[in-house]
Amino acid sequence: MYIVKKKIKGKEYYYLNKAVREGGKVLSKNVAYLGKDKKEAEKKAKEIIGSIEKISNAQKRRAKESRKSEKSVSKLEKKELSIEELANFCKKRGFVYASGEIYGGLGGFWDFGHIGVELKKNIKKEWWKFHVQKREDVVGIDGAVITNPKVWQASGHVKSFIDVAVVCKKCGFKTKIDKHELGKVKCEKCDGEYKSIGEFNPMFITQIGPIKKDSVVSYLRPETAQLIFINFKLVQENARMQLPFGIAQIGKVFRNEISPREFLFRSREFEQMEIEYFIEDKMKCPYMDEMKNIKILVYDKKMQEKGKETKIMKIYEACKKKIIRTDWHAYWISKQYQWFIGLGAYSEKFRIRQHLSNEKSHYAIDTWDLEYKFPMGWRELEGFSNRSDYDLKQHQKYSDKSMEVINANGKKILPHVVCEPSLGVERALLVFLFDSYFYDVGRKNVILKLNPKLSPIKAAVFPIVKQAKYIKIAQDIVDDLKEEFNVVYDKSGSIGRRYARNDEIGTPYCITVDDKSPKQKDCTIRNRDDTKQIRVKISDLRGVLRKLINGEIKFEKAGKLVETRVKK
Ligand code: GAP
Repeated sequence: MYIVKKKIKGKEYYYLNKAVREGGKVLSKNVAYLGKDKKEAEKKAKEIIGSIEKISNAQKRRAKESRKSEKSVSKLEKKELSIEELANFCKKRGFVYASGEIYGGLGGFWDFGHIGVELKKNIKKEWWKFHVQKREDVVGIDGAVITNPKVWQASGHVKSFIDVAVVCKKCGFKTKIDKHELGKVKCEKCDGEYKSIGEFNPMFITQIGPIKKDSVVSYLRPETAQLIFINFKLVQENARMQLPFGIAQIGKVFRNEISPREFLFRSREFEQMEIEYFIEDKMKCPYMDEMKNIKILVYDKKMQEKGKETKIMKIYEACKKKIIRTDWHAYWISKQYQWFIGLGAYSEKFRIRQHLSNEKSHYAIDTWDLEYKFPMGWRELEGFSNRSDYDLKQHQKYSDKSMEVINANGKKILPHVVCEPSLGVERALLVFLFDSYFYDVGRKNVILKLNPKLSPIKAAVFPIVKQAKYIKIAQDIVDDLKEEFNVVYDKSGSIGRRYARNDEIGTPYCITVDDKSPKQKDCTIRNRDDTKQIRVKISDLRGVLRKLINGEIKFEKAGKLVETRVKK
């Protein structure tokens, strides 16, 4: 940079200029006005050059730091956590806390933190989009948590929703088991023998009306399904649905589990995502072609009874061979499995297992579970029961209101639910966390490779230096993106630290406003999974981010690829 003197109408003026190369020519561009006095001008020029150098050194330092922090990113390792380790991670990173922790917590109740609430909301949003929004044959409802207690008498839950409470004779560990398991299963803690301490109904009882003598006893719902059955006729008529069709619901349910355990896996308060899919008895599933090539580990009743191993099979074939008895059952299992895999879960950690005869719920004539290989072993992730016409028949009987609909031939019929997909939101959340948890050995931090659709925060925006013009651009970007996405502005700590903090909670994209941004009106986007960076015009950012999150464009194609690696 150099000082330039200009004479205008006989007076001298001093300017600070710099040489810039533009279109093959070297031009002298004005940087600042220095005044009319030579000495003053020299002093001012020194100050300006000093502060520009300071900023540019800081930028260089940060850029170097950022490149250094990205150098060893390829050393990603898949980490298999225990359920306790995951619980610790969830607490530290703002996903999940024991409810009422300052008072010692309360068994089976959990609070979701500022990151956890977003993940949970995104899981529910994706489920709803896949099963309701994108389908013509499924509509949704949102029923009450507490309803008329007659519902639970009609549904059989008051009489038959029964668990057996047992205590280990050797170590005193208390748990619940299914009736048929009594005398067969050993204590999970010490292999000792269990003894029954009675049967219990896990429904939470509550009093409706504050004056006890005038009040009515009811229950917190133990499944969302009954709210669908009792509203079946209203929904069918108002939404003008024709068989086959489904009604979906997401909502809280409560079960007074004798032994809530394994973090979120067995809670007393949780959320279910359920579909009751109604058909005319024996109606064929028209969607079988959609699932022709879907393979999964199959473990049917016979294999279990004969002590055989699971078998990898096409779900379609399992249905043709009558291992899975109805096409609707096969269809919904494959749909749900596809939903999990589509959002990044690992296919090899899933299997389907048929319930043994004495294991089924009181309403079910055949049940399959989609199981997941949790660190505690294979466990139920989602249930698929054939409830036949049990529920509608019961409500018809107890309410004396017809639940029949008119079929295509103008005949009144009572619909069947041959398959009820029923999934706990928290169990789905565990699956997505387990399967996305990686560790970067080089940089020593966790990378949560969540599908961007599920990521709690879609992008973090940083100014590379804490200087007004960069901060302003970064904040304008945040304001614009916030119209559509959950994004954060992050200016504290080194760039490397900011990347690491966001990698750990699964933020897929980090947007940086750097030294080129004010002039070029662009910024960089850094991809969490491979740390590659692209430059994108700020005016295109919202659209690019939308396409990236929805998986509609490859990262490398979304902008101009930037060289970030340190050359040796
Ligand atoms: N409407 C059918 C029904 O409620 P379920 O097998 O008792 O069937 C369905 O429950 C799903 O709800 C399970 O597959 C699981 O994902 C979730 N679930 C059940 N009990 C749970 C608990 N105590 N804690 C967390 N999730 C639970």
